Amino acid sequence: MKKPDYIPADYKRIKVVGSLSELFNAKFGGPDEINCIVYPRRLQQDFNKLALALQPLADDARRKTGRIRKLHYNDLKQLSAVPDPVLKEAVDAVIGDMDFPEVRRAREDFYKHAEFRIVYPGAYDLDEVIEDFHEDNIYVPEGRIIFFYAGATSEGARNEDVIKRSREGLINPQNDAYDLKPGAKAFRFQAGDVIRFAGNCQPGIKPFVHKAPIMKEHAPPRLLLTVDYIPKPD
Ligand SMILES: [Fe+2]
Repeated sequence: MKKPDYIPADYKRIKVVGSLSELFNAKFGGPDEINCIVYPRRLQQDFNKLALALQPLADDARRKTGRIRKLHYNDLKQLSAVPDPVLKEAVDAVIGDMDFPEVRRAREDFYKHAEFRIVYPGAYDLDEVIEDFHEDNIYVPEGRIIFFYAGATSEGARNEDVIKRSREGLINPQNDAYDLKPGAKAFRFQAGDVIRFAGNCQPGIKPFVHKAPIMKEHAPPRLLLTVDYIPKPD
């Protein structure tokens, strides 16, 4: 599969695949030291309209918890009853992704490792450094999966292009932050992309360095589906 032009052409650690099955089956490591797998998927449904429709849920979460709002499968099933066919198509596309076997196993797991996230400006805790380049703590070999539907997407950086920041002054020094080297450029995924990436607990694999976008004050929510663990089939 051809690399999209927003991914550095000469960078082997990102593997581009053409389907969700390939995304879940691809392996990290190998001669190319792969630490991120991308399925550049272009969806036709109007997820921006869905993001605006979900703004009240984001506002409510901001008032009540200050944390990101998470929806589980049954919440989305209920949302799918909306009369607007355009919104319904977008919700049904997310449900379709949640019905994909690996995602279904993750969400049906006791700990519910798959959730649809509505992220609004300021939804993350201050001690999280996600708006700085960082690596994730991921304790499973499958890595972490993110489906980007709407709103600003994450940015990635080549491991060669970043330097670890001194831990001094970090609010939560357990999290390593990175800075881009002078002159180096990051790259940004696109809405529709699905990515699976390695964290910092997988021996022999450099973690994928990335950051969440800084959201402007009145930006519509970002819509994401995250899968944090893929239980094996029975
Ligand atoms: Fe992260």
